[in-house]
Amino acid sequence: MFLTDDEKRMRDGEDGAAVAAAMDLLVRYGEALGAERLCETRNVAGTMTQPSPAKAKLFEEGGWAKSFAVINLDCDDDIEIPPMKVPTCQLQHGFGQDARGLTAYPDSSIELQADAESYFSDKGVTILATCTPYQVGNLPVRGEHCAWMESSAVVYCNSVLGARTNCEGGASTGAAGLTGRIPYWGNHLPENRFGTGLIHTDVRLDSFADWGMFGYYVGEAIGEGRPVITGDWAQPALADLKHFGAATATSGGVELYHIPGITPEAPSLAAAFNGQVPDAVASFGPRERRQVYEDLNSQGDSTDVDFILLGCPHASLEQIEAIARRLDGKRIRDDVELWVMAPPALFANAVRNGYVRTIRNAGGQVLTDSCPAMSRAAPEGTRVFATDSAKQVHYLPAILGIEGWFGTLDECLDAAITGVWRGELAS
Ligand code: F3S
Repeated sequence: MFLTDDEKRMRDGEDGAAVAAAMDLLVRYGEALGAERLCETRNVAGTMTQPSPAKAKLFEEGGWAKSFAVINLDCDDDIEIPPMKVPTCQLQHGFGQDARGLTAYPDSSIELQADAESYFSDKGVTILATCTPYQVGNLPVRGEHCAWMESSAVVYCNSVLGARTNCEGGASTGAAGLTGRIPYWGNHLPENRFGTGLIHTDVRLDSFADWGMFGYYVGEAIGEGRPVITGDWAQPALADLKHFGAATATSGGVELYHIPGITPEAPSLAAAFNGQVPDAVASFGPRERRQVYEDLNSQGDSTDVDFILLGCPHASLEQIEAIARRLDGKRIRDDVELWVMAPPALFANAVRNGYVRTIRNAGGQVLTDSCPAMSRAAPEGTRVFATDSAKQVHYLPAILGIEGWFGTLDECLDAAITGVWRGELAS
């Protein structure tokens, strides 16, 4: 792999052992991928603070420096970790203090994470604690090279923002934070950013649920390709595209999609395909929509619901407001739990606007930092849950061995109030 003089200097240890280990990791990683060089990045979104048994053991052996060296740099040596060289943020991690007592999630993990937050923020890591860094100030500009983890964030970064990232891991983001470099391959290359398949929807997309179901269909149809979608829809909001992308990355491995006229690298259908528009590889009609709906609801049996999960990917302020408005003056059944997952920064806004008070008065919770799928924890005794998220209903039943229902926000809130799932596919 070609290295610049500066990169050789880092590799040879002039910036210390940790930076040398980071550069060594990036070179090994890049060569395995066939990258010819590295590119500079000033935007890293990774994860260092998420507690795990392996991390707890390493922390006991040698503190957070040991944990970071082994897990984020693939290095067994006892080395000192310098501050991050470029802006680096922590994505979602485990549950934090606000979940204490609400679930069987261990207090020891909450404490370990709080300690990690303090260590890594001293190293220059911004603790955004969300899977949606783009909602809370991390907004790379079009064309910017990034090193992000988290599939729902990666697809948003590439598609809606027009920035460039592959779906990185804990090690490559740790190394990128210390060096400001990431292998130049995959989605970083302009020629790899054009569409690979046209998918048309014959069904008009009017709601958050519609975008989630269509995204789930697109992911299944295109796998790891780059879909370009056409059809008829109401102007999508941030939350719609957040849900759509997350769903494509759940049923498939989509990291980049184009919507001609809406996403930045697709001013036209022809531009999305670099000039040659292929025939549609799939189309989404009423039959396909029904099939997706049934697939998403295939883990539901009992209609007695005891947990409602909203905010996957983490809720926008607009979504929190919509939940508060609908719950104003209502009461969630005593034997049902409702959690809204949100980024900590938006939680502060939601408190200030009174949304959190309204949701709490109704008997619900607004929580931050994580989600049930990520932390593998739900309210104790949960047997049946419901959500408006295609991603969460795909994962949570398998992770926790519970039943799951997918529907609209109104259906989820109706279930929270009545304890009964009455969702059905709107025609
Ligand atoms: Fe975020 Fe958890 Fe969903 S991390 S994207 S809320 S599965």
